[in-house]
Amino acid sequence: MPAEQGPPDFSSRLVRWQRLHGRHGLPWQVRDPYRVWLSEIMLQQTQVAVVAGYFVRFIARFPTVQALAAASPDAVLAAWSGLGYYQRARHLHRCAQIVVEAHGGAFPQTAAMLATLPGIGPSTAAAIAAFCFDERAAILDGNVQRVLCRSHGIDDPVPAAATTRRLWALAHSLLPEANDIAAYTQGLMDLGATVCKPRQPLCMQCPFETDCRARRAGDPQRLPVRKPARSARPQRSTVMLWLRSLPHGQTWLERRPSQGIWPGLWSLPQFDDTEQATVFAAQFGRIVSQRELPTFRHVFTHFELTARPLLIDLHATQQAAEMPGQWLSLAQAEQLGLPAPVRGLLLQPIAAIPADPAPPRAALQG
Ligand code: ADE
Repeated sequence: MPAEQGPPDFSSRLVRWQRLHGRHGLPWQVRDPYRVWLSEIMLQQTQVAVVAGYFVRFIARFPTVQALAAASPDAVLAAWSGLGYYQRARHLHRCAQIVVEAHGGAFPQTAAMLATLPGIGPSTAAAIAAFCFDERAAILDGNVQRVLCRSHGIDDPVPAAATTRRLWALAHSLLPEANDIAAYTQGLMDLGATVCKPRQPLCMQCPFETDCRARRAGDPQRLPVRKPARSARPQRSTVMLWLRSLPHGQTWLERRPSQGIWPGLWSLPQFDDTEQATVFAAQFGRIVSQRELPTFRHVFTHFELTARPLLIDLHATQQAAEMPGQWLSLAQAEQLGLPAPVRGLLLQPIAAIPADPAPPRAALQG
């Protein structure tokens, strides 16, 4: 991990700036964990100006964590309505119930414990712990990532696992003493939201104007470097029929056409839906059992395929002579050219597929 080079005295300068120029008097700037928690959840994807009104109305409707826990899901959703990202409201409600039922109505007092609750990620947990309990805990939301990338000249792509690790380490290394932690945490948020903005940052108002690495390089807006978005491939989905003939457990395989995906390889028959697959299977004899196996995805150059394997065991009554395929033991199949994901599916340890009903093991091995 490189030693990060950034403005000296980072935390003390930020604390001083926050006290003079940061945001004060917001309705959640209190040391009440219920209010702080509620505001942090609301602020996860929504801006301060929008949250303020919702927050005040929500607190009037549910003044305590007990009131929120006891509310009906519909009442909570109604109070949340308009803030969007409704999963947040469901987690919020569940979290309130856990705080009441498992913690006697008092929020846990450490970031580590807070992060075990629904909807509270590591950065939100740290914010609550810093604001309410003066814990020296580091936050790292999107705004803070931008501030740190710019101030410390980090041009690794964001988000990427290695960059995120590097930024967390940096965020921890910059923390001030505990008695300044609330102002420092608020300062990071305020700087990111009001000065170090994604576009057209107001560098002249920044406490790090003279020694911000991105500013000194002449183009602060260039950072953070965005990881190139994966070009969205069209999505296709298919049902892959794994047909097994009892009692020996041979698998029906077909050779694929010479055009299209997996040209000329042996593979499982594919269908648009389960019903088509079942109708096809029924032509071979009496179906004994049928069960969906875990879905897998396979990326091709021009699209992404989601395959839903369907395992059907049957007693074959027909030779299905006219069908373009063959019953093959897994040992035989292994010798053929199979598409990699189909090989993985067929040759996974048999024990991984719960027997339903238990086929004789020897039979499965063909
Ligand atoms: N964004 C996330 N948390 C915030 C807070 N406590 N104050 C202002 N903006 C925020």
